[in-house]
Amino acid sequence: MQNSKDWSENHLKKLIVEQRKHLWRDDTIEMYSKWLNLMQGMTVVDVGCGLGYLGWTYWKYFGQGGRYFGLDQSSKLLEEASKLSEDWSRGGIASFQEGDAYQLPYPDNFSDWTMCQTLLMHLEFPEKALAEMVRVTRPGGLIMCNEPDNVSASLKTFFANGISYSDDYAVQHHRILLTWARGRKKLGFGDYSIAVKIPWMMHNLGLVEIDSRCNDSCNFIQPPYETPFQKYQLELATRNMRKKQDTGGTEDRKRGKKEFKEFYLAGGGSLSSYYRFMKKADRVSEEYEQALKGSIESGEMRRSWGGSSFFCIKGRKAELKVEE
Ligand SMILES: C[S@@+](CC[C@H](N)C(=O)[O-])C[C@H]1O[C@@H](n2cnc3c(N)ncnc32)[C@H](O)[C@@H]1O
Repeated sequence: MQNSKDWSENHLKKLIVEQRKHLWRDDTIEMYSKWLNLMQGMTVVDVGCGLGYLGWTYWKYFGQGGRYFGLDQSSKLLEEASKLSEDWSRGGIASFQEGDAYQLPYPDNFSDWTMCQTLLMHLEFPEKALAEMVRVTRPGGLIMCNEPDNVSASLKTFFANGISYSDDYAVQHHRILLTWARGRKKLGFGDYSIAVKIPWMMHNLGLVEIDSRCNDSCNFIQPPYETPFQKYQLELATRNMRKKQDTGGTEDRKRGKKEFKEFYLAGGGSLSSYYRFMKKADRVSEEYEQALKGSIESGEMRRSWGGSSFFCIKGRKAELKVEE
């Protein structure tokens, strides 16, 4: 198995299209623009830019006279990102380049702001990529990483979806997930809970003014599903329920299960404990899906995530000291 994924493949690309639609609330981005001290005309580098999400999300805070450089290893995504940017990059320049996060094609001290989102969590050597981000940022410039702590998030979601689980099942589920996450990291697919370690990485790289915020979105989905986000959640739940029956959905599930098993075993889990857990998990998930189906059909679907564990971490590259 290769330890790098192709994010232009349909089942992955849909994540960076769909999940991005409601990832950060507009008022949060507004607040962050002040917290980050963004200014028009900045030179910005976005590492692992995908379709350029961070570019269009923050454009109105830096784009007038600004320059956005999106870098990614996927030429297919970049092609699409470049086309999309024609719509959002008015008043400044957005350009895209194929390259490697471990070896950024920019000179030292190039940018005012270097950023990434859900990149470090997928890398075998996140510190190395972060060091490159620091290198290309000018002294006094800003580094921002938006990354999740997914292992913790999973425990919250688990208790927030309105279904009661036994404590035994919850503990077992969490233990399995920890083993899976250890295996994922060991196989070079990155740290699923990297967010909480990034402030330390920034500190070790000499950054100053390190600070961190957590996405404050904590939605409760409920009828009559009036906001765009609520409508989207209803659509997502309905689609997921239907997808279970079609081949596309089944293929995604099979792929997910195969990878889950590989990571779990690599993390030190045994085959017998995997099958024992899966038997239980399949039953629990079947019950959940039945309940979900009933609630969607009766127009009474309610769900909660219990809050996000998606962080925005910032640090500043120290100014050069001028000798007297
Ligand atoms: C989860 S996607 C995030 C995309 C975008 N930042 C966003 O939030 O929508 C991760 C991206 O990082 C890119 N990537 C992964 N490893 C990389 C590497 N070593 N160098 C450059 N890009 C990389 C992938 O191609 C993919 O587009």
